Amino acid sequence: MNDAIDISGATAGDFEPRITAFVCNWCTYTGADLAGTSRLRMASNVRIIRLPCTGRIDPLFIIKAFERGADGVIVSGCHPADCHYTSGNYHARRRFAVFHDLMEFVGVDPRRMTFSWVSASEGAKWRDVVDEAVTNVRALGPFEAYRELAPESAQVVAGAEGS
Ligand code: FES
Repeated sequence: MNDAIDISGATAGDFEPRITAFVCNWCTYTGADLAGTSRLRMASNVRIIRLPCTGRIDPLFIIKAFERGADGVIVSGCHPADCHYTSGNYHARRRFAVFHDLMEFVGVDPRRMTFSWVSASEGAKWRDVVDEAVTNVRALGPFEAYRELAPESAQVVAGAEGS
């Protein structure tokens, strides 16, 4: 793999990764809600962005998440054949496969991006997806190398944190 970008070299010791999860409203969001109401213990590093369907998830959302400080991203929706809009998850799967390869080509470690299917009844699976993503990204360290590529975005984030 090309490590041209993902060479953070940061210590992963006490690092707590920031993970942004793009999930569909009908399956994964409900599954994540079930994990919460079932009081399953899981990493608390994930911030969820709920969308109607994974078919609505533009790869640019993932780029923006990295620009705005995410160290890792999760994309999750309904299982194949369960999409509430018939085929949105098939479109998402194809789109993400290409995007995944593209990101790897430019040097982003693919372990920073997780794609999964989690249904409304799979709270335990959501917990496992979250815990695995956090473990993977924690081992990689902060994604500062990416943010160095977009210094203007980093300044916006820094300004927002200071205000
Ligand atoms: Fe869940 Fe389409 S509604 S992936």
